[in-house]
Amino acid sequence: METAIRLILDREALARRVAELGAQLSRDYRGLEPVFVGILKGAFIFLADLVRALEFPVEVDFVRAASYGAGTESAGVIRLTKDVELPLAGRHLLLVEDIVDAGYTLDFLRRHLNALGPASLKICCLIDKRERRRVEVPLDYVGFVVPGGFLVGYGLDCGEKLRTLPEVYAVDMGGESCTP
Ligand code: PRP
Repeated sequence: METAIRLILDREALARRVAELGAQLSRDYRGLEPVFVGILKGAFIFLADLVRALEFPVEVDFVRAASYGAGTESAGVIRLTKDVELPLAGRHLLLVEDIVDAGYTLDFLRRHLNALGPASLKICCLIDKRERRRVEVPLDYVGFVVPGGFLVGYGLDCGEKLRTLPEVYAVDMGGESCTP
């Protein structure tokens, strides 16, 4: 079966929403000297655009988490594969994620970062796949709510492919998996 690909978010829609989020975050975090923590790998493009939409510079750090289980379904068991490197106790943290699906990754990382004693911890995600949620996570800033479909581009991958597309697409793999 052939792979079908459908445009979901074009460059203009992404740029407009990132600019809006940047303006909102600039208002909310002015004077707080926040640290933006990106979740690798998917959030690297969103984070890069978001920090350049702010009205002041911020510090940036990264975490990476992996879920056990293959394919497009998370098994819900998350482990940390790269921790933050900055001292974050007493800092105002914004966790930046590309997509929230079942919610397992953010639930895990939220607990992990809260244990470091930040002054505050909020979450900003580009895409909320709300209908797929298995565990509730409070999302403070949401770019888009997108129903079903396997999404690629603007940081989102399919077996490490298609991550660098500048738009977001839904792919129908025709039964194939994304395993590289
Ligand atoms: C994706 C995405 C989120 C997570 C969401 O990461 O970037 O981090 O899955 O799923 P969940 O809400 O069901 O936990 P992935 O594990 O594909 O790694 P990547 O960002 O390196 O591509």
